[in-house]
Amino acid sequence: WPALADDVAAILELKKTRNAVILAHNYQAPEIFHTVSDIVGDSLALAREAINVDADVIVLAGVHFMAETAKLLNPGKTVLIPDMRAGCSLADSITAADVRGLREKYPGVPIVTYVNTSAAVKAESDVCCTSGNAVDVVRSLNAPRVLMIPDEFLAQNVQVLVPEVEILTWAGHCEVHEQFTPADIREVRESYPGVTVIAHPECPPDVVAEADFSGSTAMMMNFVTQKRPRQVVLVTECSMGDNIAQANPDIEFIKPCNLCPHMKRMSLKNIRHALETLTHEVTVEPELAGRARAAVERMLAVRP
Ligand code: 13P
Ligand code: SF4
Repeated sequence: WPALADDVAAILELKKTRNAVILAHNYQAPEIFHTVSDIVGDSLALAREAINVDADVIVLAGVHFMAETAKLLNPGKTVLIPDMRAGCSLADSITAADVRGLREKYPGVPIVTYVNTSAAVKAESDVCCTSGNAVDVVRSLNAPRVLMIPDEFLAQNVQVLVPEVEILTWAGHCEVHEQFTPADIREVRESYPGVTVIAHPECPPDVVAEADFSGSTAMMMNFVTQKRPRQVVLVTECSMGDNIAQANPDIEFIKPCNLCPHMKRMSLKNIRHALETLTHEVTVEPELAGRARAAVERMLAVRP
């Protein structure tokens, strides 16, 4: 990316002067993912890694809930997000008042909240989960019924894997993954016989049912790099395939994929600006942060 070399060089220098690290989600564009990022991963890995950051400043190249989670887990650090508008349709689908309403309607039923939510929603929850550990978190509760919110499709996909627990949910969806259909998968299989299909669990259950494997973005990456399919379709955000493709030229990445407009708000330009100006700082009110942190820490204590 010669045109971007200036920004890359400036960011690398700023990271030193600011004593900053850049945590980037797997959906970040290759020119961010492969150049300036110190730690890359899925939501679960970014949360775990945020705890261990020693630097003064964390720049979260991802979406707002990820920056909030980093702040919850490492509150002494300055956590920056280069564009405050980088939201998430799942996080926008539910409020803290909604969760209190569910608590009243279903007394005693544990509330498992996807990390793709605001700190205020996490604060009303018993435990969080990501797409990488949702099954383990549900099983760890040993409860006959759980509420898994706000991602309806993730809850339905977990329900298939944990039939012994009744999973109640909420009507939130990821605007990127809800667009995929079983017809997309059938078409790609017809055009590319033998293709391996991997779907993120935020996809509708009838899409996941047509896939060969489903898992978090990191699990998808591991599957591809270990099994090394000749042709693969990653039914998820487009940068995932682009990021793996670079190191694996022997694997052919086939469409469809969709772009997340929130993830794509990150750019080398605004990462540079964030480090130059120390904006935009993500903070969480301390009382609320304490309750939200407890739900995230309960999740991190669950091991497969
Ligand atoms: P994971 O990286 O945890 O699989 O999450 C996907 C996602 O959509 C994050 O916004
Ligand atoms: Fe949210 Fe979906 Fe974008 Fe992830 S891909 S940030 S779940 S809208």
